[in-house]
Amino acid sequence: MGNSIIITRNLRKIYKMGKIEFSALNGVDLEIEEGEFVAIMGSSGSGKTTLLNMIGLLDFPTSGKIFLDNTDVATMDEQQCTSYRLKKIGFVFQFFNLLNELTGAENVMLPGMIKGNSNSREKALELLQLVGLKERAGHKPSELSGGQQQRVSIARALINDPRLILADEPTANLDSNSAMQVVNLLRKLRNEQNQTIVMVTHELELGKLADRIIWLKDGMVIKDEIN
Ligand SMILES: Nc1ncnc2c1ncn2[C@@H]1O[C@H](COP(=O)(O)OP(=O)(O)OP(=O)(O)O)[C@@H](O)[C@H]1O
Ligand SMILES: [Mg+2]
Repeated sequence: MGNSIIITRNLRKIYKMGKIEFSALNGVDLEIEEGEFVAIMGSSGSGKTTLLNMIGLLDFPTSGKIFLDNTDVATMDEQQCTSYRLKKIGFVFQFFNLLNELTGAENVMLPGMIKGNSNSREKALELLQLVGLKERAGHKPSELSGGQQQRVSIARALINDPRLILADEPTANLDSNSAMQVVNLLRKLRNEQNQTIVMVTHELELGKLADRIIWLKDGMVIKDEIN
């Protein structure tokens, strides 16, 4: 299996709504190497978020296998999944999901505090510097632009030194300049910290900044291309 950090084998997800079933993933086979920056693309409803949620242990497949760090996640109990999510994965969402009552620095610190890190504040300030927002550490989300809020949320995703960053349309609510900045920041994390990044995007121009684009259609991989 080499140093693949993510492997999926014949991954399927069927959503059940009462008597109606919808098959959102139809046998996805993927291997993502440590340190790769991968974009997932495909039209609305093609299964991108579903796939990311499975990889992020936020939801579970109907059948098929997921290996993270060569561990079959089906063998992990709920506590092990939670712990893996908290320690090894950083999530970046489309709507930032920052807490409005907290400052930027406090938002970044929060997952570190939950994990019990004592030096979270110091680390949060370092990360805000990394994303170019040290001067804004005391600002609340409402006092930041969309692009700045997303960079705070990326700093937050990094607080526990994750090996994997999962970003679901992190630029969907940003103007094109801010979007470019955010994706370039993700590239920098891959280059400088060897982080593995999986980013869902609808913008081909942004997908081209990744190392590789995996295209989904109707819950299947239809193309997997190196940029
Ligand atoms: N909880 C759910 N219950 C039922 N069907 C769902 C559920 N979540 C997603 N689906 C369906 O599964 C399919 C894939 O959804 P998914 O959210 O993965 O698409 P996506 O590629 O992320 O789309 P978008 O680009 O619009 O975000 C869609 O047809 C959607 O309607
Ligand atoms: Mg989606």
